[in-house]
Amino acid sequence: MKFFVDTADVDAIRELADLGMADGVTTNPSLILKSGRDILEVTREIAEMIPGPVSAEVVALEADAMIAEGRKLAKIAPNIAVKVPLTWDGLKTCRVLSDEGTMVNVTLCFSANQALLAAKAGATFISPFIGRLDDINLDGMDLIRDIREIYDNYNFKTEILAASIRTVNHVTQCALTGADVMTAPPNVIKALASHPLTDKGLEQFMKDWAKTGQKIL
Ligand code: E4P
Repeated sequence: MKFFVDTADVDAIRELADLGMADGVTTNPSLILKSGRDILEVTREIAEMIPGPVSAEVVALEADAMIAEGRKLAKIAPNIAVKVPLTWDGLKTCRVLSDEGTMVNVTLCFSANQALLAAKAGATFISPFIGRLDDINLDGMDLIRDIREIYDNYNFKTEILAASIRTVNHVTQCALTGADVMTAPPNVIKALASHPLTDKGLEQFMKDWAKTGQKIL
């Protein structure tokens, strides 16, 4: 499963990229706001740092304007994936930009039927939002499983990009379900390394090592 980093914080992306933990990046208008940066400038900086897909989201709501914004974003770098919302205008935009050879990430997906439409519109990625479904007491993982089955039934090439990942358990479940990609905030990716038994074991090793009075270096 590929790991995308869900942030526009370049320092956090660099830290994960140096470890090989950032196969791509996803941003959205809220994350651009949080970064305090100009969208074109920060997207360019991220796309130069990360060879994999970097999602940048359009903000127009009508297809012609979305297409124009998407073309502008796509010009930033060859690894830009233009992010469009799962609306009818977003699907039109997806069709046009995909046919032009631009990667498209269709976002704000909350149903299997929406995912089916995105695949038929030629999306490179579909972004089902797990955490936001959990927020309203639905099981976001059921959606990932349904989309996996539908895409496999018809051999759709659209990659399932599990989004709105909030917990380390979401990551495990996505990997078990066969999501192609998951995108998570840096803190969730870093939390994957944590386990209380690792901390406890290390503490005991350090205590015992101190008693040996030895040094390696
Ligand atoms: C990614 O593409 C999404 O923008 C992001 O994962 C949304 O996450 P949130 O629901 O935690 O805001």
